[in-house]
Amino acid sequence: MLYSENRINGVDNAKRIRPIPPIDTMAETSFAYAKVNISLDIISKRSDGFHNMKMVMQTVSLSDEITVRCEPGAGISSSTDTGLSYLPVDRRNIAVKAALAFFDHTGITGYLTHINIKKEIPVSAGLGGGSADAACVLRMLDRMFDSKLGQETLKTIGKSIGSDVPFCIVGGTCLAEGRGEVLTELPPLPRCYFVICKPPFSYSTPELFSLTQCEKIRVRPDTEGLIASLMNGNLSGVARRMYNVFEDYLPWGKQDIIYIKNSLLDNGALGATMTGSGPTVVGLFESADYARQAYEKLKENYLECYLAQPMNKESLE
Ligand code: C5P
Repeated sequence: MLYSENRINGVDNAKRIRPIPPIDTMAETSFAYAKVNISLDIISKRSDGFHNMKMVMQTVSLSDEITVRCEPGAGISSSTDTGLSYLPVDRRNIAVKAALAFFDHTGITGYLTHINIKKEIPVSAGLGGGSADAACVLRMLDRMFDSKLGQETLKTIGKSIGSDVPFCIVGGTCLAEGRGEVLTELPPLPRCYFVICKPPFSYSTPELFSLTQCEKIRVRPDTEGLIASLMNGNLSGVARRMYNVFEDYLPWGKQDIIYIKNSLLDNGALGATMTGSGPTVVGLFESADYARQAYEKLKENYLECYLAQPMNKESLE
């Protein structure tokens, strides 16, 4: 049995000393699922620079495909087959950060890790694409090394990487509070469909937070009514309460957001909202036919359109 270097070096933190499997090449492929905000509210600004949030979040079937390969050696590298030159592949990449955090936490050494990301989830879109990749890498490494960290530890490691990573570890339908890491699981949505449409620009998340002075927010989502609707399996009750407070404070691009929302609603969506810090807009449909119709319509004007379904937490690998 081989032990981590930390053991050899006599690191005193017993938690970090873990037997690891014999050094061998291991590879796994898995899916990292995007999230959408059914609602987003900002409660207060915190002394650590973050904001306390109240959000209903949902995992959806739009996904990246992640392959992690570990072989004898040292270091972490990553690649993407998207041709997106602005996507970093070094340690600025959130999936690489996740692998670094995993090895740091477990003390496992002796592996050269390569992460390949087949990117489908639009980048800087409010869909948690990077967070989903990070959560997926954490789950995969935990499984590959049989480190049995458990969901709470994975969430704690995830929080150090990004505020949405803990939700992406848990998945399904959740109320997210605190920075986004205080999660309460909610009943799943009744059968429904999403149309997801990203206009061709992005917002800076810190800039949107700074434009949205939380004590002056005029319109907030009815989160309690939304949760009650989920409890009652009332899809139109959920859809009617879809709302994101950032929508009132957009520095530009509001016309696209309104256009996409109206197009979704005109084509049969029960509700629509911007997700996260945008600019992606999500429409919720009861009818698969209406969802396809709305998707086809938006596709005429926007390249980044997707049809998706909600995913429950059990379907996350
Ligand atoms: O945690 P994450 O990297 O996603 O946060 C990006 C930025 O968004 C933070 O640096 C902060 O400016 C802002 N943020 C915030 N409150 C949160 C989450 C994010 O102010 N709950």
